[in-house]
Amino acid sequence: MSEVRIVKPVKVGIAGLGTVGSGTVNVLKRNAQEIARRVGRPIEIAHIGARRDNPACNIEGIRVSRDIFALAADPELDILVELIGGVDTARELVLAAIGNGKHIVTANKALIAEHGNEIFRAAHERGVDVAFEASVAGGIPILKALGEGLAANHIKWVAGIINGTGNFILTEMRDKGRSFDDVLKEAQALGYAEADPTFDVEGIDAAHKLTILASIAFGIPLQFSKVYTEGISRITSEDIKAADYFGYCIKHLGIAKDTGNGVELRVHPTLIPKEVLLASVNGVMNAVMVDGDAVGPTLFYGAGAGAEPTASAVVADIIELGRALTVDHDERAPYLGFHAEAMSEAPVLSMDDVECSFYIRLHVQDRTGVLADITRILSAKGVSIEAMYQKDVVEDDERVSIVLMTHSIRESALREALEEIAALEAVVDDIMRIRVEMLDA
Ligand code: HSE
Repeated sequence: MSEVRIVKPVKVGIAGLGTVGSGTVNVLKRNAQEIARRVGRPIEIAHIGARRDNPACNIEGIRVSRDIFALAADPELDILVELIGGVDTARELVLAAIGNGKHIVTANKALIAEHGNEIFRAAHERGVDVAFEASVAGGIPILKALGEGLAANHIKWVAGIINGTGNFILTEMRDKGRSFDDVLKEAQALGYAEADPTFDVEGIDAAHKLTILASIAFGIPLQFSKVYTEGISRITSEDIKAADYFGYCIKHLGIAKDTGNGVELRVHPTLIPKEVLLASVNGVMNAVMVDGDAVGPTLFYGAGAGAEPTASAVVADIIELGRALTVDHDERAPYLGFHAEAMSEAPVLSMDDVECSFYIRLHVQDRTGVLADITRILSAKGVSIEAMYQKDVVEDDERVSIVLMTHSIRESALREALEEIAALEAVVDDIMRIRVEMLDA
């Protein structure tokens, strides 16, 4: 092995020394020699910005500022690594650093999904790069795979389990019959959940990630506000068991689909056949399926959160930018994989236009004619039933549970039918409806 000629190091500033920040310091230090061999120059952590030290990493000998904005102004730094999380201060910090000619690495999905268009414009004007692999699915290099490895393809759809907390909750509910609240508390204690866990369970975290995936898959601008988002908090163990009975499992998916008429962007609980690989992705693990016209269906699996899995993606971005420092800005890969002036204007479709099969579960009073009323309404709206079962909700109770699986139907027709059914006197409790996706099954 030939020795690396020691040249001027790439100087990096790390803003934020929480879980990911400390993981990044540890990986950069532990693998310093190997990383230098990959870049052709050593990477030096020249400045850390953090309100307090973190005993999870050793930062002896590194300059530390308690004011993170000192990093944006530090003339020594080539790259600022934003790991503070949140949106407003992170946006200010990143724009200030870009203004001072620094390249940016960030793990911040909310920042990119909500302000990426503005940040990329500012970065382009200043001739600097912004890399954000760690913002989606932690350690899985899915953005690089989509933007580079699969760049030959017309991407047809992307579907992913992109929130570990939600997947952990659904897995524990299914495998151990635990309650939603009980599992959520454990996910928080284990440090998987966002600071505000409603971001996980109501799908906002996944919607941020889907926004980014869709832009790189289809070359559309980042459009977080147009993602349809539905969480998992209404899923009951009754639904999990019923789905299992019909051969499905329930996963919280982010789905981006190019229909030819526009793009579907949606995050919601989804029934998927038990035999597709995604159905076997359990616990906090993440996985993303991508279907390209040339490659066919592909699956990327790995840890979606955690100190070193996320640091793996952060450090890969630092390495990439370190290599590109000497390359002219116009010759570097575009931020979203497509050139800014070649972005698609494909509209984001309304949920009313989505067509798929549905799982419907209702609780009704056990009376003559109720089922006939339900099927009459469904039939009038063109909803065709593929399978169904009925069982008691509770012993000695007058209520029964009816579960229906439909054939594919436009969402608007299904919604109208369910509104009518909900108004029937015999229907008690809220009706649960969950979309079904066959993926590559
Ligand atoms: N709260 C997120 C999750 C962390 O559970 O997946 C990684 O973005």
